[in-house]
Amino acid sequence: MNTSAPGVDTHEMVLIHRVIRREFGQLPRLFRSAANNPARSKIIGAHAREMLHFLHTHHTGEDELLFPLLRERAALDPELMNRMDTQHAQVNDAVAAISTELPMWTASADAAAGKQMAALIDATMPTLIDHLAEEEQKLLPIVSATLTQSEWDALGKHGMSAIPVTRRLIILGHITEETDEAERQKFLQVVPAPARLAYKLVGHRQFTRETTAIRG
Ligand SMILES: [Fe+2]
Repeated sequence: MNTSAPGVDTHEMVLIHRVIRREFGQLPRLFRSAANNPARSKIIGAHAREMLHFLHTHHTGEDELLFPLLRERAALDPELMNRMDTQHAQVNDAVAAISTELPMWTASADAAAGKQMAALIDATMPTLIDHLAEEEQKLLPIVSATLTQSEWDALGKHGMSAIPVTRRLIILGHITEETDEAERQKFLQVVPAPARLAYKLVGHRQFTRETTAIRG
């Protein structure tokens, strides 16, 4: 494969966005469901922490490895790029606020704190949803024509390396949860063979067990 000429398949990012939409979409309900129940807030708190980190990593990867290359090489609508930055900043503020609150709530299951975090996510979801949709519709076609394969792979590696090794199979479960067969096969091509095998043998079961406990 020629990795120095522009032209990449960006569909991987659509799969990542599905995880973000799905998991953040249900976090408010999960926070509320754990009110005054510390056994449950420990489970939900750990999941929320993982997803906040996942979203944060996704955005910093774009900020550092994607947007600068696009700005350098493509004729971009300045309003669109400003909007992308503003949306990232808004979402990051919410992520930071919830990340600050989360450890205490995880230990205490304090109902008011849970409600507050739920409300903050509810208030941020429209921005996040608009952002992901606009990125898919307007930016990914430009990315696809602008980045080389190795540049695109660097973004994937940035995301992957931020996930602790012990959690990678669970994240793989999240990414493949809503894929159709063709999407799943395609995504699994970027997963090393030992991890694919481990997912088949134990990872999928672990993922199902965890998400069943989380979603209640
Ligand atoms: Fe994205």
